[in-house]
Amino acid sequence: MSYQTLLIEKSDGVGILTLNRPQKKNAMNPQLHEDMTAALEELRYDDGVRVLIITGAGDTFCAGMDLKEVFYELQDQPARYDRIIRLATEWRGRTLRYYPKPTIAMVNGYCFGGAFSIVEGCDLATAADNATFGLSEINFKGFPGGSVSKTLANLFRPRDALFYGMTGRRFDGKTAANIGFVNLAFPAAQLREETVKIAREIAGKDPSALRTTKEAYRFSLEMTWEASMNFTNAKEEELQHRQRVGWKQEGVGDFVKGKFKPGLEGHETIGRSHTPKRGRLGHEARVKASALAHEVVDQLTDSTAPEEEQQKRKRKLIHGPREFRDVRQDQHREAPGSKGKR
Ligand code: COA
Repeated sequence: MSYQTLLIEKSDGVGILTLNRPQKKNAMNPQLHEDMTAALEELRYDDGVRVLIITGAGDTFCAGMDLKEVFYELQDQPARYDRIIRLATEWRGRTLRYYPKPTIAMVNGYCFGGAFSIVEGCDLATAADNATFGLSEINFKGFPGGSVSKTLANLFRPRDALFYGMTGRRFDGKTAANIGFVNLAFPAAQLREETVKIAREIAGKDPSALRTTKEAYRFSLEMTWEASMNFTNAKEEELQHRQRVGWKQEGVGDFVKGKFKPGLEGHETIGRSHTPKRGRLGHEARVKASALAHEVVDQLTDSTAPEEEQQKRKRKLIHGPREFRDVRQDQHREAPGSKGKR
């Protein structure tokens, strides 16, 4: 689908959604709120998008709410105003925050007022060193309203929140990284490349595990310790169910068998769809094939050699030398439409 105020690109599992009103500094007008609501719904179910980056066209990430089209022109249209504010709050405060896929805000330039909620709604954020952030509301006799105050309460240190909120002073991307509002800042020319690199790295992980990572974190923030323990135990069951090939058998199981080191590398199946497709091995067949391979490897391995040597040899026999594994993983990530081909 195409949208009046947005651009969508997709490649290698990474979607880039660009706010596209550069002539108005990507200010969020009613149409943009309608478009974002629809686009996030569309991308939620798009298998070609495993990680979503949100950015802005031109020299701006987003100049916040469209002051003219929303606050000024809708003053006498309470129903329309209510609908737009509801959509605006919903897509940033709920849809993005609880999105089933990882999201990254890539702040390429101006980022004012309401745009802070997009940055906070995303799981991660990067910025150009020279991006300009500002809580400008105080300068037009307003305050960080809607979900922006909650954004500040969630992510800013208390002194920073009130300092920037009360002075309206601007800060750059480097400062945004220093105070923890974004993860990393890069020189503007490298921002996209570096952000896509992070997105691809995440797109190579198990989608169900990523979703659970987000949900366990976000909901635990609002829970007591006891409630969180109970919730994450239930999430563990849910994850096992969603993955079909559970993380305990495959992920932890292969670690216990000495096949890989999760501290240093991803599991070989990561990035692969767990849905059996026609013409591919089903899970049971794969498990049988893998068991057979391990039996052969056991027979080929010198049982008198030290345990560590044996494990190394087994890993090599099964997966090939480490360089080959790295190349295979890279090829898998880079191949267009490679999802599900393993
Ligand atoms: N709402 C509506 N229109 C906006 C806007 C906003 N938040 N931000 C920018 N625009 C419009 C400008 O009115 C201008 O429209 P025009 O060409 O029809 O006159 C156009 O975008 C370009 O902006 P301009 O001000 O000419 O560009 P600039 O580079 O000189 O300044 C900003 C850019 C972002 C610093 C400045 O436009 C600004 O201060 N915007 C308001 C930011 C703000 O307070 N946002 C918080 C909202 S919650």
